[in-house]
Amino acid sequence: MTDENWNQFAGTLRARLSPDTRIRRDEPLGTKTTIRVGGTARVFLEPANVQDLQLALREAWAANVEILTLGRGSNLIVPDEGVNALVVSLAGEAWAKFELRERGRVWVGAGLRLKNLCGLAAKAGLTGFEFLEGIPGSVGGALRMNAGAMGGWMFDVVEEVEVVTLEGDVKRLPRAEMHVQYRHCAELQQAIAVGALLRPIAQVDMQAVNRQIDVYRRKRQESQPREPSAGCIFKNPPGNSAGRLIDESGLKGERVGDAEVSPVHANFIVNRGHATGADVLELVRRVRARVREAKGVELEPEVLLFGKKWKDVL
Ligand code: EPU
Repeated sequence: MTDENWNQFAGTLRARLSPDTRIRRDEPLGTKTTIRVGGTARVFLEPANVQDLQLALREAWAANVEILTLGRGSNLIVPDEGVNALVVSLAGEAWAKFELRERGRVWVGAGLRLKNLCGLAAKAGLTGFEFLEGIPGSVGGALRMNAGAMGGWMFDVVEEVEVVTLEGDVKRLPRAEMHVQYRHCAELQQAIAVGALLRPIAQVDMQAVNRQIDVYRRKRQESQPREPSAGCIFKNPPGNSAGRLIDESGLKGERVGDAEVSPVHANFIVNRGHATGADVLELVRRVRARVREAKGVELEPEVLLFGKKWKDVL
């Protein structure tokens, strides 16, 4: 699509959406990600409600425009050239709901940060969500990736997910009908999660919960870097640790421009200040090649590459 086509697409949408929905052309995405690299979205949408989201998705579908969702940007690398797509962000207040339901269940919006979810749950006396505290993302992103930490998975606490399909239809998907694996949820490749009904893993006493949160936090602070990063870059191969394999291949501190394999945890690439998307991708290629050589293991990226397929850049 030419610039003129994108203007037209954005203009048509703008005229039909409610005034509270924000839509912008060529919105920079790097600062909306935790690793802070990459270019712009041709069209960027912050829908104020489900109806506007449905409408925008239908228009994009009809115009054959690719649709990408941006959560908290914590597991994502945006290429320097940006993305030829409609990028949908559910980061607004309207999507950060937290509503108590019966039997310790909660209804949460896709834009709610996991950290806030844990805080709100603890305040309401609910237990069973503590393991999510350390994942730097939103509910929507964590569902899409089946994010995990400290031995727990997002889908361990999911009962039902409400989605809007890329064709613009609202659906409720019970957990039992969803296909979920390590860092993957099949149904959310073709639909955007807008909310979920969660149930706690188990009931335990509050003191134990707070102690557990502290243990998790301390472990993470000791073992993971503080500089901007996209979280773990590679999936752990079955029965092995990507971090250990990269470390043992002598790659800690390896650099391309300002992108660096973290000396704290080798499965993190950190941005030392002015890294570009190209620096990060080059370092990913280098790490992969070196681990293949030294260890005979082919590492697969866990982070998403926005608007592209990893196999086309590796
Ligand atoms: N290790 C090294 N060198 C390193 C890093 C790790 O030898 O540079 C060793 C550690 O000593 C340990 C083993 O590798 O024996 C595993 O390391 P760690 O406990 O840090 O866990 P991980 O498997 O590397 C996973 C998740 C993290 C999650 C942590 C904590 C993946 C790819 N990673 O890391 O998730 O925070 O467990 O639960 O599944 C993410 O997905 O973005 C992420 C950071």
